[in-house]
Amino acid sequence: MRRVVVTGLGAITPLGVGARPSWRRLVAGESGIISVSDFKPQSKWKELTSTVAGIVPTSETASDKEVRPWRAADWLDASEQRRMSRFAQYAVAAAEMALSDAGWKPSDAQGLETTGVCIGSGIGNLDDVYSTSLAYEQDGYKKVSPLFVPKILINMAAGHIAMRYGFRGPNHAATTACTTGAHSIGDASRFIAFGDADVMVAGGAESCIHPLTFAGFGRSRSLSTVYNHDPTASCRPFDKDRAGFVVAEGAAVLVLEELEHAKARGANILAELRGYGCSGDAHHMTAPKEDGSGAFLAMKRALKNASIKPARVDYINAHATATPVGDVAEATAIRTLMLGEEGVDDESKVAVSSTKGAVGHLLGAAGAIEALFSVLAITENTLPPTLNLHAPNVGTNFNFVPLRAQEKEVKVALSNSFGFGGTNASLVFSELD
Ligand SMILES: *[C@@H]1O[C@H](CO)[C@@H](O)[C@H](O)[C@H]1NC(C)=O
Ligand SMILES: *[C@@H]1O[C@H](CO)[C@@H](O)[C@H](O)[C@H]1NC(C)=O
Repeated sequence: MRRVVVTGLGAITPLGVGARPSWRRLVAGESGIISVSDFKPQSKWKELTSTVAGIVPTSETASDKEVRPWRAADWLDASEQRRMSRFAQYAVAAAEMALSDAGWKPSDAQGLETTGVCIGSGIGNLDDVYSTSLAYEQDGYKKVSPLFVPKILINMAAGHIAMRYGFRGPNHAATTACTTGAHSIGDASRFIAFGDADVMVAGGAESCIHPLTFAGFGRSRSLSTVYNHDPTASCRPFDKDRAGFVVAEGAAVLVLEELEHAKARGANILAELRGYGCSGDAHHMTAPKEDGSGAFLAMKRALKNASIKPARVDYINAHATATPVGDVAEATAIRTLMLGEEGVDDESKVAVSSTKGAVGHLLGAAGAIEALFSVLAITENTLPPTLNLHAPNVGTNFNFVPLRAQEKEVKVALSNSFGFGGTNASLVFSELD
């Protein structure tokens, strides 16, 4: 059997540039959520019901001098910047970090042909779709840029990464709403398991901080609207005052590698990707089934694929976006799993947190950044906290790691991602035995 391990991490998040710098701020209980109410054009932003967002810090918005801000020029030359939309720029930068971390920059034909890319996005580039539609409506054909199509295609992030390094293995992009990141990593692991590739650059990227995004999610009543005055308190997974999710942007990339390939080159192995499970709710466009049966099935399949019993799961990174219904459905599903067959006998032993409290909901990148945090939970033996959780009311008595990180030996971590359309995926990571 070809086993799959993680050998490199890269990320751009609302907590800053870099996987470990973002992790350090996460564990310190810091938040990347800020107010967007002063963004331009004012007429559009000010009528929105939710004006908080997880924004990648730039030199203008970074509050803390310790935080490395995003500067496109650090990663891309002027012509690359012009040709790539923001989500693709984040993906390329996160891939560069992950490949450097993994020490994998092959130049021989064998290495290049067996390395692939699997990077998705949920929404992609709404900015250019919007402005090009307006320009076309007003001034016609000549106003449409020749770069319009390449800048809106979701698979272009994967394309740019392959071109940059010459990777000629599978080149793929999932787009399954908020499950995109998890599906990208899970599908990439199967390319390796089935022998299509030895190394995969896998993850998700999103940047749709545009008033239309907030208007759309606002109209579907998904967003947090009551903490606009207090952005860092706005995303409250599992808390009794939770009132919806907070839109965020960023990218996260994992280098996945076949175990023997990683060993042969002496790579630093961070964790093993042990299992992957997917399911569909077959229920409703945007609402979960109350009993969480879709989520339960995904987790159960992932653990079966990993040959790991529920009792051995030390940490669950929940999808929990802080919507009233979604968090309960997921908690119910986790209870069914963890207190069921070969599970634990005591609810309070189940450690579950939602890192969205600190970074918000990265949509198509959420599953990727949460997988990355789950890997770091294993390497650092630390449970990242659920921010803003003062009074859980989801009907379970789990250890939700409220407010502060906890030290705990983490050998097995499970990461959940669910998306509109009723699509669910779970990933299981473990220490390499
Ligand atoms: C888990 O999935 C992988 C493919 O990713 C497959 O190779 C392996 O056989 C599966 N293991 C079990 C126990 O289902
Ligand atoms: C599966 O995906 C749906 C789609 O939105 C998600 O809302 C739900 O939480 C997941 N399943 C359940 C019932 O947990």
